[in-house]
Amino acid sequence: MTGQPLSDRFQYKTADALRRKAEALCVDLPFDSDIRILLEPADVGGRRVPNRLAAQPMEGCDATPDGAPGELTPRRYERFASGGSGLIWFEATSVAAGARANPRQLFLSADTAPAFRRLVDLTRAAARRQFGDRHDPYLVVQLTHSGRFSRTAEDGGRKAACFNPHLDREPLPEWADEDLDGVRETFVRAARLAADAGFAAVDIKACHGYLVHELLGAHTRLNSRYGGSFEHRVRLLMDIVSAVRAQVPAIAVAVRLNATDGVPYPYGFGVSPEGGTAVDLAEPRRLARMLADAGCVLLNISAGIPNFVPHLGRPFDRPVAGTAPPPEHPLLGVARLIGLGAAIQSEVPAVPVVATGLSWLRQFWPPVAAGLLTRGMAGFAGLGRGVFAYPDAAADLMTRGVLDQTKCCIACSRCTELMRAGSSAGCAVRDHPLYASLHRAAKPPAGSAP
Ligand SMILES: Cc1cc2nc3c(=O)[nH]c(=O)nc-3n(C[C@H](O)[C@H](O)[C@H](O)COP(=O)(O)O)c2cc1C
Repeated sequence: MTGQPLSDRFQYKTADALRRKAEALCVDLPFDSDIRILLEPADVGGRRVPNRLAAQPMEGCDATPDGAPGELTPRRYERFASGGSGLIWFEATSVAAGARANPRQLFLSADTAPAFRRLVDLTRAAARRQFGDRHDPYLVVQLTHSGRFSRTAEDGGRKAACFNPHLDREPLPEWADEDLDGVRETFVRAARLAADAGFAAVDIKACHGYLVHELLGAHTRLNSRYGGSFEHRVRLLMDIVSAVRAQVPAIAVAVRLNATDGVPYPYGFGVSPEGGTAVDLAEPRRLARMLADAGCVLLNISAGIPNFVPHLGRPFDRPVAGTAPPPEHPLLGVARLIGLGAAIQSEVPAVPVVATGLSWLRQFWPPVAAGLLTRGMAGFAGLGRGVFAYPDAAADLMTRGVLDQTKCCIACSRCTELMRAGSSAGCAVRDHPLYASLHRAAKPPAGSAP
């Protein structure tokens, strides 16, 4: 796979230099050189979380064909756990066989549940071995239905909430309301299995264009109980949250939510009805309050649809090979993401929000994360690509107080390239030779998505 030149090499040698760049770009980037707050315990729904560092959900695309954790899956979670993250948000895990975004996505079913139980046990054991009994990470599993992006649906079985000219070359078949009614039960079933497996919480995934999120922006789905008005568009998410709360009391409920889609109105959520893609947080704020009232214990704020506006959700220097360079300085993307999280956090101060989009900051994410936490702009600092590259960042902060710059993510998009090429995903730069050799062997997908 050939790379493209870096569009804007990260060139900041000191936090001050980065701060000056933020000022020049007129973005508000909080900094706090005292990072101890990141290592303080937190409370989530009455449970102690050992620190405020979260491993974000990161798909490794390495499940067995039936959706059980494969050979590389335990390696990833053992690394996250022994690396010290206090909150580990397990990757997208399908609630139905035909709803997987790729054939190697995890799928939580009655058949695979025992393997998930083992995965949970070994993750917790890895943390305990490293840090002792008091360090018991909070484990969330992200439950998803891939909707229009289901790659394992039978031929013709892939359905959309409504036509979206920005995402579809041609219209897909659309969901009937009666079929959407049934989706709630698949989430409840998976939540029950997740509780049995030992997870502390399930995330009802409502981001990145997948089914539950797609419905949030389904303004043009008319004459449906699941589209058109705000109340109708949030129905499936709210119904699933209430049903899981009522029927599976043993597990807490979290939501990863897109605060804005970057898809022009009326085809996106969190965008201004005035037109274009301008951010409008009126609905995301209202939804966050509803989720808090419904008993959600954690929110995790993201943005964008990965194939359509990748820079919005994962600010990068080097784009996926063959795709466009980012249309803005990545620091603008970082500031937007943390600003979105902060806006939602201010709406629901009692529900911790996991901040997204810190990896591009390299060795400077801890002071920014500390700034966010001390100002009440987030409850946890989440690292996605950063935790693929540097799973023991938390441990280094505990022992040395600073990060090793040579272990940080460089926002090069190779992990996404691996995923797009149908390979297993990980860090081809910092976690070699394993993922570097997979990256060398990976072929770009035919007719690669934009
Ligand atoms: C290879 C890869 C896999 C990802 N898998 C998931 C996933 O399973 N669920 C999810 O909500 N986000 C997923 N994301 C998005 C990340 O969780 C995160 O939001 C994004 O990378 C931005 O955060 P960062 O700057 O810390 O990387 C993925 C991103 C990448 C690059």
